[in-house]
Amino acid sequence: MILVTGATGKSGSEIVKQLSEAGAPVRALVRNSQKAAGLSALAGVEIVEGDLDKPDSLDAALRGVERALLLSAAEPRSVELQGNFIEAARRAGLKHVVKFSGIGADENLPGGFLKWHGQIERQLRESGIPHTNLRPNVFMQELLNSWGGQRTIYLPLGDAKLSVVDIRDIAAVAVKTLTEDGHAGQSYVITGPEALTLDEIAAKISTAIGEPVNYVSISFDDFRQSLAGMQLPEWLASALVELYRTLATDGAQVTDVVAKVGKKQPINFDEFAREHGAKFKGE
Ligand SMILES: NC(=O)c1ccc[n+]([C@@H]2O[C@H](COP(=O)([O-])OP(=O)(O)OC[C@H]3O[C@@H](n4cnc5c(N)ncnc54)[C@H](OP(=O)(O)O)[C@@H]3O)[C@@H](O)[C@H]2O)c1
Repeated sequence: MILVTGATGKSGSEIVKQLSEAGAPVRALVRNSQKAAGLSALAGVEIVEGDLDKPDSLDAALRGVERALLLSAAEPRSVELQGNFIEAARRAGLKHVVKFSGIGADENLPGGFLKWHGQIERQLRESGIPHTNLRPNVFMQELLNSWGGQRTIYLPLGDAKLSVVDIRDIAAVAVKTLTEDGHAGQSYVITGPEALTLDEIAAKISTAIGEPVNYVSISFDDFRQSLAGMQLPEWLASALVELYRTLATDGAQVTDVVAKVGKKQPINFDEFAREHGAKFKGE
């Protein structure tokens, strides 16, 4: 039995779907089973209610489980919440935990999402549980969510390139690492097939929607100020600034993990933009 946490989220739900299609027995851990109607309809998928903040609920959810995917929301408490899961996985004697992390994860960073992922990766390493780290680049779907309907994109990335990746390709890699032997001890940087500047990404969206879309590179100070103007909590604004600092240096790597491990051709940004033209247009 494979337990998937974060199963109601963007990546977790796709991973549950692809595990079901592969015929694997899946248990989806959700905080509220009313949010899991779409998942419970999938073949071979059972739903269990549980919360990473309630360790007792994890012991019950892990009964009979051998392998698990560890994923929760990007937030400061993720280190503590995922730490609870690692402890429960150790108590339950899991054979393999796959940690959903991020490109550039490093506990020595000053702060932010990738520091937290680095700290969790260390906890997992120290737990002694056989494990695999998945380190995806920015999701193509994230661009769709943030930029859908926009015609100008302001980011502090200059001419840096990003190898954005489709969640469906990340899920393909996750499914293989959860269902095959031989992935323990690996950290997989999961990327799209090409690294693109933000000008190139904007041009591709523009072609897909038939209207001009432009990228404007801004300073990190201006980026921080624009986040402050959006009334984001301070921790989130700081985490986003840290994230883009790391992406500016680490975000251009292109790996063959989707092809080699996921055993599929990675989706490129032209295909993605064409498929989602209406949403990029703001319809
Ligand atoms: N966005 C990107 O481009 C990107 C790139 C690389 C890596 N990442 C990493 O991807 C992860 C987020 O993935 P995502 O965007 O697919 O997730 P998401 O859509 O934000 O969903 C988060 C999931 O975590 C669950 N969750 C939150 N707190 C929980 C708790 N206390 N107990 C149990 N479940 C809990 C949520 O359940 P509920 O439905 O109950 O809230 C939901 O299913 C983050 O770690 C982020 O750093 C993101």
